[in-house]
Formats: sequence, structure tokens, C-alpha cells
Amino acid sequence: MIEQPVMVKICDILEESPGVKTFFFKLNLNFEPGQFVMVWIPLLDEKPFALSYVQDGLIGISVLKRGVFTNVFHRKKIGDMVGIRGPYGRGFSLKPDFNSCIVGGGIGMACLASLVDRLNLTAEKHQGNATVIQGARTAAEILYQKRFGNMKLCTDDGTVGFKGTAVDLLRDSLIKQRFQKVYACGPERMLFKVAGLCKEHGIECELSLERYMKCGFGVCGQCDCSGQRVCVDGPVFNGEELSRMEDFGKIIITKTGKRIIYKPKSILN
Ligand SMILES: Cc1cc2nc3c(=O)[nH]c(=O)nc-3n(C[C@H](O)[C@H](O)[C@H](O)COP(=O)(O)OP(=O)(O)OC[C@H]3O[C@@H](n4cnc5c(N)ncnc54)[C@H](O)[C@@H]3O)c2cc1C
Ligand code: FES
Repeated sequence: MIEQPVMVKICDILEESPGVKTFFFKLNLNFEPGQFVMVWIPLLDEKPFALSYVQDGLIGISVLKRGVFTNVFHRKKIGDMVGIRGPYGRGFSLKPDFNSCIVGGGIGMACLASLVDRLNLTAEKHQGNATVIQGARTAAEILYQKRFGNMKLCTDDGTVGFKGTAVDLLRDSLIKQRFQKVYACGPERMLFKVAGLCKEHGIECELSLERYMKCGFGVCGQCDCSGQRVCVDGPVFNGEELSRMEDFGKIIITKTGKRIIYKPKSILN
């Protein structure tokens, strides 16, 4: 693990969709799918990101353009430098012999991409199978379509795949198919519904939470969810753990430390 940010050069940039770019860096990290890194843009801020690509000395971070930090990130060019520290947190437990379903909502798919790679690499050998469900608002926002050719897609506006949310498509798939494990990442209300579906069907689940983070290594308490520090105890939690976390899907902590009732912004919920 890198404890101080190391300055690394952007060696390539891939436009994944109109709002998402992947930045590639030559860096060797001992990374487990589900973990995250802190990216530092000097004189601006430091923010958490998943690694969406991890291959022999090369890592990729897929960034959705949202506010100030990600807008500045999107303006970076090949050769520009950012600081990276990590990886942090507890990742997914891999069950390559299971029939798994991986459910990504919006940019949550970035956190799951390295898991899909890892499971695809090992699943055949272990006779497991991974089905990937990706939900987006519209066709243009679908990520990694060439990379993972056989995903089940859904969009809120029906421009590609099933018309409805990732939760709707999971519910539908659970009627037709038996899964031993569900992995998911996306808006917290979506994850709350995924956890409920898995409980109803008696399926193990592991969900990756995206709480507001500052330090990223368990010191500031900003990312608390019912006494769990999401940055070190998570970000991946299993269904049993989540059922004991009363704030999950209901209460969030804003960047000023205020506890507020969760109001979903995204129609993915
Ligand atoms: C473990 C983890 C992994 C993440 N992985 C990715 C990823 O792979 N790709 C990606 O595009 N985004 C990822 N995010 C979210 C990313 O950190 C935010 O999109 C980014 O910080 C937004 O900053 P901003 O200044 O552009 O937007 P702002 O306008 O400041 O915020 C927009 C929204 O981004 C979220 N956000 C802002 N700051 C933080 C923060 N410090 N910690 C957590 N969430 C924040 C909040 O939901 C906020 O409403 C991840 C978050 C976490 C916690
Ligand atoms: S971000 Fe500081 S404790 Fe988790």
C-alpha cells in the first residue's frame, strides 16, 4: 500500500461515454476488486476512486464528470501528473466457482469492472459463471460495452436493453435464473433494494458503498455508517453486515458532518 501520494503521469486517456473518461497510469498496485485509491490534484482536493482496469503495471480510473474535482480531472491531458495513494478498504470476496450476478448502476460499474475481469479470468477454470447487469439512464451512458460483450443492459428510457432500472432487471432475472451470489455497486438506495431482493431470495450478497470520504484510512469518521467506517471496514459489506447497519439506505453524512435523511437524486433508484 502507498501511504503518501505518489505523483504519476497520465499515460493514456479513453473516452468511455460522453461523461466518463478513463485515465491510465503506469503503476504497480496490489489491488483487490472493490478497494479504492485516493487521487490528489495539488492545490485542489483529494477524492476516492475505484480502479476500473488493473493489468500488469497499468491501472485505469474511470471518472464521471460531476463537480469541481472531476471537471478539473477531465481537463487533464496525457503527460499531466496526479497523486495516488492506496489501495484502501476491504474488497469483494471472490467466489469463482459460484454462479454470480454482478449489478452495476451508473458509475458504480467502474468499481465492478475489475471484479468482472478477475471472475472471467478464473470462472471458466472453476466452472463458475458471472452474469453482468448494467443499468444507466440512457444508451449513451452505458460503460465498457466492447470490453464486456455479453452484459444484460437496462436503461430508464428504454434506448437500449430492458426498460427499467438495474433493480427491476435483477428482480426479473432472479425469477428465471438461480444465482449463488450477487455483487453490486451504485447509488445507495439502489443497493438497499438489491439487499432486500437478495434477502427475499436467500442469496448471499456483497455491496460496495460510496460514502463521502476525507482521509480514506479510518481517522476522520466522515464515512461512518452505523458505527462502521466505510473506508476501512468496507467499502464492501455483505448482506448480514448491512442488515445490522440502520443508516444503510436511510441516513447519509454530508461533507460538513451533518446527518441527513437520504434523498435519492438519481432516477436509477
Ligand atoms: C469508495 C469510492 C469509490 C469511488 N469510485 C469512483 C469511480 O470509480 N469513479 C467516479 O467517477 N467516482 C467515484 N467515486 C465518487 C467520487 O469520489 C466523486 O464523484 C467525486 O469525489 C466527485 O467530486 P466533485 O468535486 O467532482 O463533485 P462534487 O460536486 O463535490 O460532488 C458530487 C457528488 O460526488 C460525491 N462525492 C463528492 N466528494 C466525495 C468524496 N470526498 N467522497 C465520496 N463521494 C464524494 C457526492 O455524492 C456528491 O454528491 C467513488 C467514491 C467512493 C466513496
Ligand atoms: S474517510 Fe475518514 S474515516 Fe473514513
